[in-house]
Amino acid sequence: MIPLKVKNQFAFSDKERNIDVYIKREDLIHPFVSGNKFRKLKYNLAEAKKQNCTTLLTFGGAFSNHIAAVAFAGKFEGLKTIGIIRGDELAEKINDNPTLKFASENGMQFEFVSRDIYRNKTDKAFLLSLKEKFGDFYLIPEGGTNELAVKGCTEILTEEDKKFNYIVSAVGTGGTIAGIIKSSLSNQQVLGFPALKGDFLQNEIRNFVSETNWQLVNGFEFGGYGKVTPELITFMNDFYAETQILLDPIYTAKMVFGVRSLIKDGFFADNSRILMIHTGGIQGIAGINNLLEKKKLPKINRND
Ligand SMILES: Cc1ncc(COP(=O)(O)O)c(C=O)c1O
Repeated sequence: MIPLKVKNQFAFSDKERNIDVYIKREDLIHPFVSGNKFRKLKYNLAEAKKQNCTTLLTFGGAFSNHIAAVAFAGKFEGLKTIGIIRGDELAEKINDNPTLKFASENGMQFEFVSRDIYRNKTDKAFLLSLKEKFGDFYLIPEGGTNELAVKGCTEILTEEDKKFNYIVSAVGTGGTIAGIIKSSLSNQQVLGFPALKGDFLQNEIRNFVSETNWQLVNGFEFGGYGKVTPELITFMNDFYAETQILLDPIYTAKMVFGVRSLIKDGFFADNSRILMIHTGGIQGIAGINNLLEKKKLPKINRND
């Protein structure tokens, strides 16, 4: 569907201990269907077409990278898209929210629901009521995670990545890291940095993988999903100034911050080669910057 331009780029090192950290630029795949979104949608879009579905329906929140990606990919593939959006108050604010505005401009039809109703997102009766309302659709779950998404994410790692001791990814629903774990070597350790608090993620990942060469590192959620702190923003801006690599505030910035902290704490063995996956999500910067501006806090820098 879209040309891939992925490369591994040097990010930083600890010279004394001979630790090198690289970042896989999956964010370069595409501005809107970037990183894990491309990987997760690839086989799902093929399956939707195989089933002759003409409509995609999915779920997401106010800044969801997934919602933006589905809207764009659906338009690109000639499919109708419906987004069930968490927070009925957002219905009045589509044009103030860069993610929803983008999705709407790309033809996505929204159904805004309260947080209570949104919790039924996997409930059979609720999904049936959506079919009654919107007609038949191909369902893509929240965050895009299902078996076909995991299959797509097994294509993130390639031959040249075999030399790394550690593969690192941000975690939301767990689909991306599941694909990475499945395609990693047994002598590689896969580390996940959850962008949200909660113990349920271990089990979500175990639904897809039986391998044991992985662990989640908690403590770098910066207050929870979608939350940012001035410390995180300063970190992102410094990283951007050093490397010219933009991170997203919800996922990848927390992962890169976490890796740097773990190096300082001596978590990684000397001579380690670490590969962080840049899973994209750059579209979310605009929305977070709007919030930071309202709070009169420093914003995320970008020159592109
Ligand atoms: C940019 C970005 N990185 C990482 C993740 C986490 O991926 P997953 O939900 O598969 O754990 C997401 C959410 O899907 C994301 O948008």
